[in-house]
Amino acid sequence: MTLIETVQDLRAWRKSAGHLVFVPTMGALHEGHATLVREARQLAGPQSKVAASIFVNPLQFGPNEDFDRYPRTLEKDLSMCAEAGADMVFAPSVQEVYHANRSIQIRESRLSNVLCGASRPGHFDGVCTVVAKLFNLLQPDEAVFGKKDYQQLAIIRRLVRDLDIPVIVHGIETVRESDGLAMSSRNRYLSAAERAQAPALRLALTQARAAWLSGVTGSQKLIELIRNVLANEASLGRPDYISLVDQETLQPQQIAHEHSLIALAVFFDQARLIDNIELSH
Ligand code: PAJ
Repeated sequence: MTLIETVQDLRAWRKSAGHLVFVPTMGALHEGHATLVREARQLAGPQSKVAASIFVNPLQFGPNEDFDRYPRTLEKDLSMCAEAGADMVFAPSVQEVYHANRSIQIRESRLSNVLCGASRPGHFDGVCTVVAKLFNLLQPDEAVFGKKDYQQLAIIRRLVRDLDIPVIVHGIETVRESDGLAMSSRNRYLSAAERAQAPALRLALTQARAAWLSGVTGSQKLIELIRNVLANEASLGRPDYISLVDQETLQPQQIAHEHSLIALAVFFDQARLIDNIELSH
């Protein structure tokens, strides 16, 4: 596996790489990321190339967020990428990616106003800007994202559509710990007591989906059900939002249907956890 740290070396590598499947990440890799790379390897087959990027993007962190303390574990990340079948990892410095006097940024103005975007102003603009830049740099034919960050995935699909970027976007199911907690690099910030309660997010979502399957369709009822499970099973957490939205537009809905998503975020002391469930897929 090749490690590339500069744009110049990347451009040279890209010239002879052929069909490319790309997995963007911010490092601190866990089994969820490894699954994305394995999925990319599967999509690429033996003929095509798989690349991952490791770049903690300052543009997508708010002033009170964890950019400085975001875990950086490059050596371990590189061996995970190699094991999962990546041919190349692009791990540039901030200076390599952003010009000091840069003056252009992408702004998404509809899907970013709800769910996580409502409490993280500018976050998805930072994501769109870096992903557009990474797409321009790597020029992948296909890219793989996780449904764990469902709003991000929906926004990337919109980015690619609205800016005519010739990349096929794949969404991959959330990878979970054996007790149901969605894997996340931020799970390490949970205390032991919070960690014990954290699977309640998944439990609440699966119970809401079961209720929908048995005929409960009103958003208030479904959200109430989730609120109750969280109050009983995750008393150390404080719900940020619990929303029933359309899977593509992310707009809130009164009545759940086949194309609905329930998404939630819960604050714990040092970490804010997110999870979601598609009512059908
Ligand atoms: P990061 O949080 O490192 O996530 C990289 C990719 O891994 C994303 O597509 C995310 O959805 C996916 N992922 C994370 N946890 C997962 C899990 N438990 N199961 C499945 N997939 C999972 O998302 C970002 O980085 C950044 O915003 C990025 C797109 C790289 C732009 O900076």
